[in-house]
Amino acid sequence: MSNTSINNTAATTGMLKDDALKGKTIIVTGGGTGLGKAMGTYFLKLGANLVITSRKLDVLEKTAGEMEAETGGKVLAIACDVRNYDDVQQMLQQSVKVFGRVDALLNNAAGNFISPTERLSANAFSAVIDIVLKGSANCSLALGKYWIAEKIPGSILNIITTYAFTGSAYVVPSACAKGGVLAMTRSLAVEWGRHGIRTNAIAPGPFPTKGAWERLLPGDMAQKFDFKNRVPLKRVGEHQELANLAAFLVSDFSGYINGEVITIDGGEWLQGAGQFNAFEMIPGEMWDSIEQATRKA
Ligand code: HXC
Ligand code: NAP
Repeated sequence: MSNTSINNTAATTGMLKDDALKGKTIIVTGGGTGLGKAMGTYFLKLGANLVITSRKLDVLEKTAGEMEAETGGKVLAIACDVRNYDDVQQMLQQSVKVFGRVDALLNNAAGNFISPTERLSANAFSAVIDIVLKGSANCSLALGKYWIAEKIPGSILNIITTYAFTGSAYVVPSACAKGGVLAMTRSLAVEWGRHGIRTNAIAPGPFPTKGAWERLLPGDMAQKFDFKNRVPLKRVGEHQELANLAAFLVSDFSGYINGEVITIDGGEWLQGAGQFNAFEMIPGEMWDSIEQATRKA
């Protein structure tokens, strides 16, 4: 999963000032693994208190230990199934009890796997929708009620995907759910803006993680369909690049950004969209004869 083609130290370097998130408490759902772990670790480095949640407490506790050792910050690990509103409410109450208040929510938890849609059971379709859409809605609802009641200018950051707006075959439940989260992002940005609550989203392209790659590119599919070949920059994303953007969007430095979805994919989705983009396969020397032909037309 290493990103061999990268030659840019900025991509692996923290961007914000050391104390950019000092005093803030941030909840990261799905924070025990993958991108949630990477973003949470950077929030800690910037001075935040962190709450990480998912279904597996053993995974969370191991990650919390590693994060605290690496950053010196404080991490609360709470088992919470985002599909269950009671779980979410209890997780919020516990977070407030330990840290005094909560300032930001990163809706990062997700479920996904590739499958032709006609092979899915109704339960399989719901399994993904429930984690991604219902889970993000449950957490946003609980935090929104709390922030409005307490007059806290909170911030919600939703991790979606670029196929939330393009759609994608073979991951239809995920596309439907992420599309719903995008609609929720723009809707709440307007509705809760008057309470000082900002709602934004990030649409990442490929950022290799164990959880995603095992379910989306199992076995030799990772070589056969190497995602970096789909990206104009010819590389996948570095976790720190995503963490830099996420930290900016939950920080007060992005205080006037509300209802925005920021794509971070090296140009991947646009490459798939442009009518003539596949012409990059034409060798340079062929363009002389092509030019002659088009001039004759
Ligand atoms: C077909 C499947 C299936 C598969 C499960 N099911 N896996 N059907 N193909 N590969 C079916 C089951 O048979 C069952 O239906 C239903 O789905 C629910 O399965 P469970 O295992 O009971 O569900 P659950 O324990 O809730 O697990 C949810 C999960 C699992 C989504 C299936 O993969 C999970 O826990 N994922 C969490 C982490 C994750 O997915 N990370 C990747 C995010 S990546 P029946 O009818 O038999 O009861 C991502 C990246 C996007 O989002 C963009 C990348 C570029
Ligand atoms: P990951 O490591 O598998 O992360 C998913 C997390 O969600 C896990 O920690 C999982 O923990 C948690 N989760 C699943 N179901 C849950 C539930 N019901 N309640 C609470 N937590 C639950 O995969 P990732 O690649 O880091 O993905 C993180 C986010 O980035 C997702 O939103 C994904 O859609 C998005 N994304 C990833 C990529 C990419 O290239 N990796 C691209 C675009 C978008 P438990 O199993 O312990 O519950």
